[in-house]
Formats: sequence, structure tokens, C-alpha cells
Amino acid sequence: MLKAKIAVLVSGGGTNLQAIIDAQNSGVIKSGEVALVISNNSGAYALTRAENAGIKAVCISKKELKTQEAFESAVIAALEENGIDLIVLAGFMSILSESFTSRYDHRIINIHPSLIPSFCGQGYYGLKVHEAALKKGVKVTGATVHFVNEIPDGGEIIAQKAVEVMDGDTPEVLQKRVMEQAEWIILPQSVEKISAELINEK
Ligand code: GAR
Repeated sequence: MLKAKIAVLVSGGGTNLQAIIDAQNSGVIKSGEVALVISNNSGAYALTRAENAGIKAVCISKKELKTQEAFESAVIAALEENGIDLIVLAGFMSILSESFTSRYDHRIINIHPSLIPSFCGQGYYGLKVHEAALKKGVKVTGATVHFVNEIPDGGEIIAQKAVEVMDGDTPEVLQKRVMEQAEWIILPQSVEKISAELINEK
């Protein structure tokens, strides 16, 4: 295997997907290549970002497929059809079952917008994470990349980066700072690290 084949799972704006695409273009990611983008939301701007970059993009809707099982079967079919080695959750706002995560042990990574174990687990996603951090009054927050297992945000940590909280921050302002100073840096770096490890295993 020359490069690990990567699938990025998204739900929304896709700025982390964009950071991965940019890192691929600049050579920060050289051991892997994004072969597929899967969104669980047809309106996700991330799908447009994938199309603009010439990357195959599909929407698999849990709403239409009705059950978690049917949704995950469709995702697995798409991953297998495309020979995917590594799954990257980049703003993917749906929890995957244990039957899915155990199938891809140490082959799924996620970016979470806090320093795990703070402000993580079920119910902590997107802006809610930053709202909770501001409510608690922490002075430092950040982002974490971790392997995904059956415990939401509970898998082995791969990378973390701290970001300062400033007086007067709103959840939106803090989210943007955490993205710029942490997420868009450590996610591409981690994608490269894990891709390189997967290549060496083969
Ligand atoms: C990012 O901040 C990501 O860390 C977070 O959602 C945002 C998605 O933005 N993910 C989670 O909260 C997962 N629990 P993006 O679509 O622009 O990458």
C-alpha cells in the first residue's frame, strides 16, 4: 500500500475536512489520501467542499434509512466498496454503535473540541462544548484527537493542544479560536501519523 485510503465522515460546515484537504495539498499529509467523504446530512457544506476538491462524496441519511443498523450497514458498504483503511470523524455529529467501532478497532479517529476528559461524552458536541467550558470558567481549553471506541470520546488519546480562554469570549469566538489554534493543526498531523503507521503495518 502506497498511501492509506481515508474516508472522512462529516455532518456540517466541514472546516476540519478542509484542513485535511489543504494538508494533503501542502504535503503535511503524505502517507494517506482522502478517497471518500460521507455526510449524514444532505445539506452539509462539507459535501460542497469535497466536490470542489474533486473527492467522491456521498450522503447517507439515518432519517431515510430509519435505524442505526441500516445506517451503519450503508456506511460499511460504502467504506468497503472504496477500500478504506482509515476513518476520520471530522465534525460528525452521530454516535456509532459498538458493533461498528469494534469492526474498525484503531482505524477510526475523531476530533473533539476540548481537552478530554473535560467537556466530553454524550451531549457534548459543537458549540455546546464551548458553552460548557465558558460556564465552568476554565481559563484553558483546547482540542483532542483520539481513537474511537464504544465509549463516546473515551478512546485512546492521539494528540491534544491547549488554547487560552479570553475574557469576554462567546461560545462562537472561543470555537473559532480552538479551531484555528488547535483543531486544524492537530487533526491533519494525526491523520498523517496514523496513516504512516497503517502503511508500515502492511
Ligand atoms: C468542530 O469544532 C469539531 O471539533 C466538533 O464540531 C465542529 C465541526 O466543525 N466536533 C464535535 O463536537 C464532535 N463531538 P467543522 O464541520 O467545521 O469541522
